[in-house]
Amino acid sequence: MLEKLLRKKKEQSGTIERTIADEIALLRQKQIPAHVAIIMDGNGRWAKKRNLPRIAGHHEGMKTVRTITRTANELGIKVLTLYAFSTENWKRPKLEIDFLMKLPGEFLTTYLPELVEQNVKVEMIGDFEMLPSHTKSAIQKAMEQTKQNDGLILNFAMNYGSRLEITEALKDISTLIKDGELDIEDIDSNLIEKHLMTSHIPDPDLLIRTSGEVRLSNFMLWQLAYAEFIFTDVLWPDFDEKCLISAVEEFQLRNRRFGSLEREESI
Ligand code: FPP
Repeated sequence: MLEKLLRKKKEQSGTIERTIADEIALLRQKQIPAHVAIIMDGNGRWAKKRNLPRIAGHHEGMKTVRTITRTANELGIKVLTLYAFSTENWKRPKLEIDFLMKLPGEFLTTYLPELVEQNVKVEMIGDFEMLPSHTKSAIQKAMEQTKQNDGLILNFAMNYGSRLEITEALKDISTLIKDGELDIEDIDSNLIEKHLMTSHIPDPDLLIRTSGEVRLSNFMLWQLAYAEFIFTDVLWPDFDEKCLISAVEEFQLRNRRFGSLEREESI
């Protein structure tokens, strides 16, 4: 009661500060992007600014994964794809690679119970076979234990590269043609999509890249054809609920035309 009165008073004086929950409720009245894909960049710089080793930045970045997963779920986002390790990241120092490969295990062991409780389904895109066995078993366990969940899909792009994905799709389709199961005329964008690792999920509506870098780095090149892009200077470990909320706010102001015209613009 007292809380309500205080709130009313604050509202009247125009000083009300909206809580995260209020912001989320407001956003949910408008269109929420069904699929948000994030290039989580800037862990190394976050660590360097604090005179810490790069891996400390990745560890802090893992905590951001937890926050953003929870907020995405509360916003009603259906799929959250996170670029955790690219096919090019094998070029990094062994110590850093080893650490990055241990993060899914640490993340999933620590947070699996709450992911289950939040009805989150863990999935992965990327070349699974090439991953170390401890990484594979952590991911497999999380996928197994969350496979019945029908809330947010938390999709890790792990050892993922878009060119590799498209190359593999081309090989699959070529084999079907060679075996006489398909004709060249059957190839269209629907067929290609069916052979990508994302065949069961919608294309991202919103792509976010943190840390001020403005490039795609071989991430979902096919699937991002009509996504809205948001590049922010915030480093991934600093990307919090408010950052995701303001990205979704910005998304809601965008005018998506998918190549067509505004209705009133047509002659
Ligand atoms: C790029 O930043 C980031 C990565 C290559 C790794 C991203 C991984 C995480 C955020 C943790 C993932 C967590 C789980 C649970 C899998 P960078 O190191 O290139 O940053 P820099 O450009 O500042 O050096």
